[in-house]
Order: sequence, then structure tokens, then C-alpha cells
Amino acid sequence: MSDTTDAQPPEGFSADWLALREDADHRARNLQLTHQLIEWTEPLDNLHVVELGAGTGSNFRYLSPRLGHAQHWTLYDNDPLLLSAMTQRLRGWCDQHGYGFRADAYSVQVDAEHFNAQVTWQQCDLANSLTTLPLAEAHLVTGSALLDLTSAAWLELLARYCIFHHCATLFVLNYNGHVQWHEPLRTDAQITNLLNAHQLKDKGFGPALGPQAHAFFEENLSIRHRVFTGDSHWQLDHESLDLQQALVNGWGPAAIEQDSTAQPMVAEWMEQRTAAVTEKQSSLQVGHTDVLGLPPSQL
Ligand SMILES: C[S@@+](CC[C@H](N)C(=O)[O-])C[C@H]1O[C@@H](n2cnc3c(N)ncnc32)[C@H](O)[C@@H]1O
Repeated sequence: MSDTTDAQPPEGFSADWLALREDADHRARNLQLTHQLIEWTEPLDNLHVVELGAGTGSNFRYLSPRLGHAQHWTLYDNDPLLLSAMTQRLRGWCDQHGYGFRADAYSVQVDAEHFNAQVTWQQCDLANSLTTLPLAEAHLVTGSALLDLTSAAWLELLARYCIFHHCATLFVLNYNGHVQWHEPLRTDAQITNLLNAHQLKDKGFGPALGPQAHAFFEENLSIRHRVFTGDSHWQLDHESLDLQQALVNGWGPAAIEQDSTAQPMVAEWMEQRTAAVTEKQSSLQVGHTDVLGLPPSQL
């Protein structure tokens, strides 16, 4: 799921929001698809990865230690504030795991026993410049919590461009529209319906496909690639109360923006949900779907 699942706020996605969700994202990821990707990359000596909508590098932090190899990552995002936090986030992560770390202005070198990675990043509005990306060298095109922000036209182009360049693709944590609270409230379904309608607003790529984005991408990619999908639901229990509260604070206003007549219902829902979170009586599943595409082997 991409801020407030992810009803993108006008100011974009904050580094604090991305940090708040990172643990839940990493716990949620579909292990079967991760392993299939690891297997697919095994014969490659040098792995070239292009990441779209990279934020502060969460997807790199998840995948790089698991992929092994010598890796070259190029990360793209249109938000200079997020990219400017990259070096510090990667330095902290390397310190935490005992990985070697070297940095200059736009790149970082990570050295560990079982993998090493050169990471560079560039500011880029992906809405209009997808086909200018250097995919000819890339083995893998990846992204996390991105597809649900994008439109049918953009997803079709992404699939076509990845097929053209024989790139594998892994797009994870695509919000799929299913939200289940415990204990349930009578008004949960109304809130989720308003949220899912709000997801379809234009996030800069044209009218967003929101919860349908992963299936549309899968359909377009499967014209040529073997495509696998798997659940990557957020399971938010008592260890994730801050994230649960952030969702309540984001979803309420998004629901009102979608239908202002729902304001009294939404206000009551927010009050009840906030009370449950404060009393540690709240847990939540947020549905996501991961999509892996593997190109046909070239003989
Ligand atoms: C939900 S965040 C996910 C960030 C990161 N992938 C993660 O998992 O932490 C979506 C990301 O897409 C980026 N983004 C949104 N629209 C974009 C555009 N038109 N071009 C490039 N990046 C964009 C945002 O700046 C943000 O970093």
C-alpha cells in the first residue's frame, strides 16, 4: 500500500511515514515470490536493478541482502527530500547490520560478506519519463508500494517496456482493497469503500487504478512473461499501534474528501478506532498483493 493507504497527501510521502511502515512492509512481503526471484538471479554474476518510486530505499534494504551477488542499483523517485534522506538511512542500516559503507553525493557502496551493492539515485518524474529509463542493462525492474498510485496507460507502458527489454519485474505491496479490523465496527465497510474510491484519484500518473492496479499489471505482463502473484498483507497488531493510528488519521480525512456528507459517520469511526488503538484493543489486516514477472529464457 502506498501515504494513508496511500491517499497521497499534496506534500507527497514523508520520510517519517515511510520509516513508520518499513517494518510492516518487510514482514508482509511474500516469501515464495522472493525465493523465486532469488533462484532466477542465481546464474547472474552482476545483477543490475532499476527501482521505481524508491523513496528512501526500503525495497533495496529488503532485497539486497537476500539476493546475494555483486549488485548495481539505480533508484528513481521524484521527491528530492526523500532522496536526500537516502545516504543517512543507508548508513544507519549498514551500521545496524555490520555492513561496510562508503558514500559520495549520489551513490553509496555497501559491502557485506555475502553481497555487495553499488547504489545510485536520481530525481525523476516517472509519470512522463518511463521510456527514457536505461532498462537495456537492467535484469530486474522493481518497486514497492507504487503500482496502486498509477494509471492503466502507465501500467500498460511499464509492462510493455519491461517485456521489450527482457527484464524480470517485482512489484510488491500493492494495496488490493481489502481491510479487516478486529474488533469490527458497523461502519468499517463504509470507510473502506470510501477509501477505495479515493484511491482512484489521479496521483500524478492519470486516473489511478488503486486496488485493481496489480491485476491489470499482471494481465499486461503475462502477454509474454511468466507471472506469479502472492499475498503480502500487513498484519498490524499491538506492536504496530503507531502505524494503526496513522492509518486512522489518514483514512478518515480521505473518506470525508471522497464524500463530505459522510463527515459525522467518519468522525464517530475515527473516535472509536482511536479509542481502541489507545486501549491496545485493535488489530488490523490490510490487503496487499505482490507481483513477480519472469521473462522467457533466451536460448
Ligand atoms: C508509497 S511511497 C513508497 C516508497 C518506497 N518504495 C517504499 O516502499 O518505502 C511511493 C513513492 O513513489 C514516489 N512517486 C510518486 N509519484 C512519483 C512520480 N511521478 N515519479 C517518481 N516517483 C514518484 C513517491 O515520492 C514515493 O517515494
